[in-house]
Amino acid sequence: MPFTVIITKDYAHMSEEAGKIVLKELKSFKPAKQKKNYVLGLATGSTPVGLYQHLIDNQEKFNSADVISFNLDEYVGLPGENAQLRTLHPESYSYFMIKKLFGKLKTPFAKTYVPFGTLICQEELIAALKKSKDDFEIKGSDKGKAVVIKASAKNPLLKMIKKDILDAYEKSIAKAGGIDLQIIGVGGRGHVAFHESGIPLNHKMLLVKLDDNTIQNAVKDGHFATVEDSPNYAISLGAALVYKAKTVMLLANGERKIRPVAESILGPVTADVPISYGQKFSADGGNMIYILDVIAASGLKGKEKELKAKGIKVIDKTK
Ligand code: GLP
Repeated sequence: MPFTVIITKDYAHMSEEAGKIVLKELKSFKPAKQKKNYVLGLATGSTPVGLYQHLIDNQEKFNSADVISFNLDEYVGLPGENAQLRTLHPESYSYFMIKKLFGKLKTPFAKTYVPFGTLICQEELIAALKKSKDDFEIKGSDKGKAVVIKASAKNPLLKMIKKDILDAYEKSIAKAGGIDLQIIGVGGRGHVAFHESGIPLNHKMLLVKLDDNTIQNAVKDGHFATVEDSPNYAISLGAALVYKAKTVMLLANGERKIRPVAESILGPVTADVPISYGQKFSADGGNMIYILDVIAASGLKGKEKELKAKGIKVIDKTK
């Protein structure tokens, strides 16, 4: 299946081009007996906000009541002593989605899912991990780690996380018929959602111990006042589930994204750069689309031959 890279002029242009593709999909969707809903995968971060605004501005052109959405990830460890307070914390991804998209739709989506990370109390999680070391394995070659809870886990909290948070989310996606179009951004080192660099690429739903770099960036970007306030864990789709969608649309703009974008396309498929999984995804039949601003795309300049050899089609919309 195709691997297409669309190069745009700037953030507004990137958002508009991405918006056009999503709108086309939503407009042409007709609910049928076997498939009642269009299933949209959503991301947080500043990158997709312009695209969400485009959907809001054009909401009369599609029926939002036909759409079920699944978000990629959610923090564990947001400030707040109970699940309600953590969900309503302004930095929760649930709150973000309500503010940037869900709350601005006149007709709401049929259902909106965000991984149930705020149900977990981080202190209790840390205590459970300390106490029940045989219940899980740690996976990852870098600083961000996957905490893989075993099916045989005995600790009640870890058992609950596996069954009611991780497995339940995966089942809900499957029940909805799988994701039709998944929107993703890129983390500083090429991570997707909270599938951090170095975590093996075969995982579907993850409990993640965040990379120090991710925690520090959250403070640097003004999301949390101190490293102590910044969550240490998250629930996330893993690459193997993100790239199960029919189409994956990656958006990237600005300088921070130059390296991961170039590495993910020109380099090998590697857990060091989780978004490199897109190459395997497209080779296996998925529809991979990158929509970049001219800055994020600058690492691909002069590499036309390599891109062509890899079967990647580049559409330059900057002229
Ligand atoms: C976090 C999120 C990712 C997101 C990334 C980049 O790590 N978990 O899903 O892609 O930030 O965010 P931004 O779009 O603000 O650069």
